[in-house]
Amino acid sequence: MDPHRIADRARPAIGRARSLLGRARRRARGSVPRPAHRAGRLPSLGQDHTAGHRSYVASLPPEGVRWLHTKPFSAPPTYEMARCMHSFAHIVERLDLGPGAQVLDVGCGPGWISEFLARCGYHVTGIDVSEEMVAIARRRSAAIPVGETGMATAPVTEFHAMPVSDLPWTGRFDAAILYDALHHFHDERATLEAIRRSLAPGGRIYVHEGVRPAPGSDGERELIEEMRRYGTLESPFDPEYLLEVVRDAGFEDVQQLIERDELVDLARPSEAVEALRRAMGSPTTNTLVAVNPIPADAGAEGLSGRIELVDGPRRGTGGAVELTVRVVNTGTAFWPVAGRYPYPLGSVNLAPWVPGPDGGRAELPRVPLPRFVPAGGSAEVEMRIDAPAAGDGALAIDLVREGVGWFGDLGGEALRVPSAPGPADDPGAGV
Ligand SMILES: C[S@@+](CC[C@H](N)C(=O)[O-])C[C@H]1O[C@@H](n2cnc3c(N)ncnc32)[C@H](O)[C@@H]1O
Repeated sequence: MDPHRIADRARPAIGRARSLLGRARRRARGSVPRPAHRAGRLPSLGQDHTAGHRSYVASLPPEGVRWLHTKPFSAPPTYEMARCMHSFAHIVERLDLGPGAQVLDVGCGPGWISEFLARCGYHVTGIDVSEEMVAIARRRSAAIPVGETGMATAPVTEFHAMPVSDLPWTGRFDAAILYDALHHFHDERATLEAIRRSLAPGGRIYVHEGVRPAPGSDGERELIEEMRRYGTLESPFDPEYLLEVVRDAGFEDVQQLIERDELVDLARPSEAVEALRRAMGSPTTNTLVAVNPIPADAGAEGLSGRIELVDGPRRGTGGAVELTVRVVNTGTAFWPVAGRYPYPLGSVNLAPWVPGPDGGRAELPRVPLPRFVPAGGSAEVEMRIDAPAAGDGALAIDLVREGVGWFGDLGGEALRVPSAPGPADDPGAGV
């Protein structure tokens, strides 16, 4: 848990980081043998952890509760603020979601991540086993001024007090975030499976939390003491074990990452390189991204769609064609989102093309959809296409299911626009 981490708890955390650093240094000098593989996670003390997490807020002193309302901001010294802000930036950057993407904040606690995501314009669902945490999260999100989100709309959030094992959704979210949360969940495989079920095909999970401290270390003693004191489950993972359970839960493309966020002194480049080497050899956080696979049988059945022009086209900077389209799923098949290149088989992307010299399609770079589109759903997409100038109707914009086929070949019709439209204020710029 973390409210106390701002002040009295930040000091042991720093001590722990120093001791890890010392251990890594001694290991680098060869004086500490690398421990044999320790499978698993720190064992529970066998308490009723759900009760512990539910009563946690009530057991905090007033300054701890205040922190929940202001996290990640606090009066100096602001130990936790930089860690939170760096991590939040990584989450947003790495997930690279489109506007209005649906995000699940698992173990949302006081909802600071939910609040920040909603401010960006994502649609956020937060769940937490603690009623009090959820009440704080609701209050924080309700305080976001209408019109002051990245989408210039009211924030779209919902919060539910429930244990993660009760997640009721299937195929709903583009991403699920577990920030300092997974180590509190007792049945890791079942939990991760429930989270994966709640994701759309191609949806991603982002996990960030501390790694399991070495047996007998100060870090381990602190966690055991915390379990005794609050009845909460403080059971972080060995990185190898986390990788194993995430794969067992059915995720693929699992990436284990390290965070390095510091200013580098250009006069001392070798120190920065050495610090990076140490961090890679002995990560202190489990930071991981993984994908809910797109089913292998995602075929052409039920694929049909329409592309409508919403705005443009116009000539943008560098001569690119800029336009906004709305894609409408008029079939019965689900359209999974691609995320990023290389686009997974079965995902659906916008696919611009111009006629090639042989009369066939000369494909231009794909434009991924901002979010998955269920049957009957739609999504708006801003496009910027570098197309060779070739006159009216020369630029075709189609949809493609990767590895399966072009909607234009399946009875659909590509949108045709000029490949060299006029600039923004040219009334002749439309199709
Ligand atoms: C350390 S807090 C982190 C909260 C939040 N992600 C943040 O960064 O502030 C972990 C949260 O997980 C919640 N939690 C613990 N066990 C849970 C469970 N089984 N299901 C849902 N939430 C749980 C706790 O109530 C707590 O709010």
